[in-house]
Amino acid sequence: MQCILSIYKFFFLQFIEIISAVFGKGSSQEVPVEKIVAAPGSDALLRCLFPVKPNMDFESLIVNWRHGDTVVHSFYRRSDQLEKQSEVYNGRTSLFHDQLPAGNASLMLKDIQPEHNGEYKCYVTCNSGLYAKKVHLLVAAPYDEPEIAVEYLCEKIVISLSSHSFPQPVVTWFVSVGYENTTLTPDSRGRYRLQSNMTLNLNSTETVRVEMSLDAVSQKFSWAVTLHPHPAHSALLWSRGSSQEVPVEKIVAAPGSDALLRCLFPVKPNMDFEMLVINWQHGDTVVHSFYRRSDQLEKQSEVYNGRTSLFHDQLPAGNASLMLTDIQPEHNGEYKCYVTCNNGPYDVQKVQLLVAAPYDEPEIAVEYLCENIVVSLSSHGFPQPVVTWSAPLGYENTTLVLDSRGFYRLQSNITLNLNSTETVRVEMSLDVVSQKFSRAVTLHPHPACCEEQSPRCRIGFGIAIVVLIPAFLMLLLQRKQ
Ligand SMILES: *[C@@H]1O[C@H](CO)[C@@H](O)[C@H](O)[C@H]1NC(C)=O
Ligand SMILES: *[C@@H]1O[C@H](CO)[C@@H](O)[C@H](O)[C@H]1NC(C)=O
Ligand SMILES: *[C@@H]1O[C@H](CO)[C@@H](O)[C@H](O)[C@H]1NC(C)=O
Ligand SMILES: *[C@@H]1O[C@H](CO)[C@@H](O)[C@H](O)[C@H]1NC(C)=O
Ligand SMILES: *[C@@H]1O[C@H](CO)[C@@H](O)[C@H](O)[C@H]1NC(C)=O
Ligand SMILES: *[C@@H]1O[C@H](CO)[C@@H](O)[C@H](O)[C@H]1NC(C)=O
Ligand SMILES: *[C@@H]1O[C@H](CO)[C@@H](O)[C@H](O)[C@H]1NC(C)=O
Ligand SMILES: *[C@@H]1O[C@H](CO)[C@@H](O)[C@H](O)[C@H]1NC(C)=O
Repeated sequence: MQCILSIYKFFFLQFIEIISAVFGKGSSQEVPVEKIVAAPGSDALLRCLFPVKPNMDFESLIVNWRHGDTVVHSFYRRSDQLEKQSEVYNGRTSLFHDQLPAGNASLMLKDIQPEHNGEYKCYVTCNSGLYAKKVHLLVAAPYDEPEIAVEYLCEKIVISLSSHSFPQPVVTWFVSVGYENTTLTPDSRGRYRLQSNMTLNLNSTETVRVEMSLDAVSQKFSWAVTLHPHPAHSALLWSRGSSQEVPVEKIVAAPGSDALLRCLFPVKPNMDFEMLVINWQHGDTVVHSFYRRSDQLEKQSEVYNGRTSLFHDQLPAGNASLMLTDIQPEHNGEYKCYVTCNNGPYDVQKVQLLVAAPYDEPEIAVEYLCENIVVSLSSHGFPQPVVTWSAPLGYENTTLVLDSRGFYRLQSNITLNLNSTETVRVEMSLDVVSQKFSRAVTLHPHPACCEEQSPRCRIGFGIAIVVLIPAFLMLLLQRKQ
């Protein structure tokens, strides 16, 4: 008996191998493949339905679920054959015996583990008929909305992103220079806890962008922030040499524009121009040096390379003014012009260069959404203006993005939830260029029908707003006149 059983087992396994081989080789088009995604620790039903024929003998029904060469679950002689099962599936699988006569050989897989990821095959045979089906199980958990934090520390700025997912997502930081530290720790639910920190040491305003993607579930997240250098760092630059003795001239120049930094020195009758030394400095940085009758450009800091010139023909007339072209935000600050001749004492002049561009006339937009009203202000300029909303309780969101010209694109939105008619006022000011805008708009609460989320109502009301806003602006203009 034992012997017969062994032989039976041998032939049975051979048979299964043959079936597997036949179906394994068959091109994927013949066998339907179903894809399912399941998180680690969760349960999933791997579907397998086979055609039931009238003459089927369920006594001889064989169901074999496999994952590659691994036996997941075997059923024959009317019972589960669990001793054949690979141990990574122990206690985790079940067939629905009551459903088998209906042609349902679906497998319930419980407490899914990362190693369960991959393609499953369901082989069903009965009397002569043969049926196979593939199920692709993707063990993956979409990530939560990541938490982003920005922290200014004494020496540096740390931006951190944290989230949970499975498998490991791809995180990419877009920064000029920075130090990245990403750690992945498995959590109790079988997912990864991701913590990605970017440490920066900014000298100038920069936009940092981070992208996170989990291809298995086609998930993608992108986030950007514009950071200003450390307040301590800027304070250091501004506080140097604040003596009142020397007159300071102030000039304002937009990013990308040119400016003349004026410096006139007294010409004395006995001056030897061979001995003339001119040194333009920005803090401790050399902007432009001139001596021995020529420019000494190798002394120049690289942020001024190709951007400075003196007017050599004007020097004998006591004019050491500097032309600075293609001005950058980092050129902002106080400049000193040192002039000496015949090794005499220095003549010092100061020029305060303010890198700023007045903002365009702001665009104001009002949008009625079903749940709330969004009033937005947008404009271009440099540097960051002060935006103040005077409105009933609302949620403010202001974003600044540096564009290719070195200007900020400002977008400031306020989200309101009005119960009655209200006037919303916004003020925007850029003190360095004494610019100030003030705009007001009166808003009515949502029409009642919006609460039913009627799309027609929303569209209708949107049109009303589009018509009303210009009318309102015209009214404002007329009043001004
Ligand atoms: C197969 O059986 C399972 C378990 O009862 C059930 O959830 C599933 O809906 C069945 N599939 C079909 C197509 O009947
Ligand atoms: C990243 O941070 C972790 C935890 O703070 C630390 O143990 C590890 O050494 C850091 N890795 C690198 C490359 O700095
Ligand atoms: C990343 O930043 C978070 C929050 O600031 C901090 O708690 C954590 O220790 C940092 N981790 C690393 C690896 O630097
Ligand atoms: C910022 O300044 C430091 C020291 O002054 C310098 O080493 C670093 O290269 C500068 N970084 C950038 C991005 O300019
Ligand atoms: C100094 O020279 C520049 C360049 O030619 C000129 O624009 C500027 O007016 C001069 N300044 C004076 C006071 O002559
Ligand atoms: C502000 O708006 C931006 C862009 O719509 C969004 O990514 C960001 O999360 C918002 N910030 C806050 C604090 O709501
Ligand atoms: C602000 O509103 C504008 C226009 O309604 C919209 O395009 C933009 O995404 C909003 N931005 C934020 C930061 O909410
Ligand atoms: C508007 O109504 C909501 C709910 O009805 C209430 O919570 C909120 O305080 C009201 N807001 C104002 C400004 O009256």
